[in-house]
Amino acid sequence: MSSPSNHTTYTPPVIQISNLTYTYDGIDTPALKEVNLKIHPGEFVIITGPSGSGKSTLARCLTGFIPHEYPGNLQGTIRVLEQETKSHSIRDLARSISLIQQDPDSQLVTLNVMNEVAFGLENFQYPSEAIKPQIESALKAVNGENLRNRSTHTLSGGEKQKVVIASFVALQSPVIVFDEPTARLDPQTTNEVIKTLQDLHKQGSTILVIEHRIQPFLALASRILLMNEGHISYDGRPDQLSTLPKTLSDLGVAFQPSSYSELVPSRALREL
Ligand SMILES: Nc1ncnc2c1ncn2[C@@H]1O[C@H](COP(=O)(O)OP(=O)(O)OP(=O)(O)O)[C@@H](O)[C@H]1O
Ligand SMILES: [Mg+2]
Repeated sequence: MSSPSNHTTYTPPVIQISNLTYTYDGIDTPALKEVNLKIHPGEFVIITGPSGSGKSTLARCLTGFIPHEYPGNLQGTIRVLEQETKSHSIRDLARSISLIQQDPDSQLVTLNVMNEVAFGLENFQYPSEAIKPQIESALKAVNGENLRNRSTHTLSGGEKQKVVIASFVALQSPVIVFDEPTARLDPQTTNEVIKTLQDLHKQGSTILVIEHRIQPFLALASRILLMNEGHISYDGRPDQLSTLPKTLSDLGVAFQPSSYSELVPSRALREL
């Protein structure tokens, strides 16, 4: 499958997956089957597909949670910034790749917002004088400066999501994976989160967004992957989605192939 990226073949991929097949322990069917994928620096990629198609499993593979935390059978290789995930710890890989998971509650680890955003930086032993400005700029990046003095347990769902995103923004990983970042958010917070992703991309991060509701992200993405039953069944440009033999809505993805013109409202996000 050829990559639609504009990057030349001389640029080493930030992610390189070869013949990845993964089966969770106790399950007969592989969650991922013969996945091959290259992602180049600076790409903004949407990963979509029906529930159960393997999107979150792929994200766990990229960040090393599979195989280090989830028991199962992994075949093939996954390299993130040239590091093979099997032979690097989750902690080592976290310097290269961040995963904002589907459920923000599962990622909050401290009692107040400042500690939360500082947590990863302290873990990576950033010098203490560098931490405060890093926290401030991460909170600013998510439009969350007003949350600075809050206890994490008093935050709304959208505020939790912003704080979790800020805690990863602070780490400045070159590759950031968002697993359904807007699934539980109101329209205002959804727009703020999309703007944050857009800014991170402009600043040079490689962004992967796993989403069912792809419409708001289409104007930002240069590439979309469609997963189905553990395979990547489409890898192409968002504006060529209408060439898919099966409509995306048949596959549980919220998009009408005849409506690429609906992208116009999302393009307005560029002006936010
Ligand atoms: N921890 C686990 N143990 C066993 N099987 C799992 C586990 N997590 C996921 N699976 C199975 O792996 C397959 C892929 O699941 P995955 O969560 O990756 O799909 P998804 O595309 O992210 O779905 P959704 O859109 O609902 O989040 C499914 O059949 C699911 O039941
Ligand atoms: Mg998922």
